[in-house]
Amino acid sequence: GELPTAAQRAHFSGLLTENAPIREGLVRFIQGFPRDSHPMALLSSTFNALGAYYPQLVENSLNIDDPQFDGAAAIAISKVRTIAAHSYRVGRGLKLNYPNPDLGYCENFLHLMFSEPYRDYVAKPEVASALNLFLLLHADHEQNCSTSTVRMVASSGANLFASISSGVNALWGPLHGGANMAVIDMLERIHADGDDGTRFIEEAKTGQGHRLMGFGHRVYKNFDPRAQIIKKSFHKALGSLGIKDDPLLNIAMKLEEVALSDDYFISRKLYPNVDFYSGLLMRAIGIPVNMFTVMFAIGRMPGWIAHWREVASNPKLKIHRPRQIYTGPVKREFVPTADRG
Ligand code: CMC
Repeated sequence: GELPTAAQRAHFSGLLTENAPIREGLVRFIQGFPRDSHPMALLSSTFNALGAYYPQLVENSLNIDDPQFDGAAAIAISKVRTIAAHSYRVGRGLKLNYPNPDLGYCENFLHLMFSEPYRDYVAKPEVASALNLFLLLHADHEQNCSTSTVRMVASSGANLFASISSGVNALWGPLHGGANMAVIDMLERIHADGDDGTRFIEEAKTGQGHRLMGFGHRVYKNFDPRAQIIKKSFHKALGSLGIKDDPLLNIAMKLEEVALSDDYFISRKLYPNVDFYSGLLMRAIGIPVNMFTVMFAIGRMPGWIAHWREVASNPKLKIHRPRQIYTGPVKREFVPTADRG
């Protein structure tokens, strides 16, 4: 609820550094997955398995005290990035990297992902900064599906790791965490069709076919403030990477330009949302499309943890139990198996 003092901040930062590596048993667990496993399957399973390594945090988890909670939060926030990067490298048969305690959170993640035994990956400051912003912008967003899931599971008294693992699964669904992936899929489809975006926009305007992914928002009807923040940083990151003439990027910029000036989009208040730029940013950094939702999960981690804490520390905690109104048939006759046709 409060910003940390300098000493608290340094202490928590130390906990993050200390907790960056994962145990060898968990490394072997990750290595045991098929190479083509979806990274979200791996992330949710490994997160649940993490609880097995911290029995003191999972037994009687509702009585977790403040120092223990800080430790558990640091484990989750720090290890999620190591697990994500390990899953990327295991999937490609690459040697796993060890976290570097001298690097910042994002620089360390990029090192874990992209360093090779013969060449360290040194993140450009603009790229690390854009990634940092991406994570910050995803930290929390009201009662979305995965956060509500974390709260629901927490309300049964389930431990932090089990609750977060459930949140990861909820985020996995394409209606929740998948919009930034859908943006890249859309751009690839437009490119494969030999279109520069013009045809696609015209089709989207008929309201019959596809939507322009990465545009519009249920709540933000004038602009998505997150999109405005990430846009600037995205362009700086692109500049630092020397990316200028990329066909998908050209299509994206065309879509943005047309949507911001076309009456169909203006009258319906359809502006580029955060996912429009974040998908493009991830792609420019070299993060594969099937890991975009994992990146969202890394960013959402502090939010899930805070929500778990809020539920778990409520002295009046009651298990969540939504009511259901049954609207099906009232009385049905039992038909013996042999007579069921
Ligand atoms: N492309 C083309 N037309 C659209 C789009 C779009 N992306 N979004 C809405 N419309 C049209 C829609 O056809 C309707 O037109 P009409 O009034 O002629 O029938 C009008 O705009 C209003 O649409 P709606 O479905 O009532 O709007 P909504 O507020 O329920 O939908 C939305 C919000 C985000 C689901 C929708 O804009 C959409 O599907 N966008 C594309 C997917 C996307 O980018 N999702 C990520 C959202 S940001 C992540 C987050 O924070 O959740």
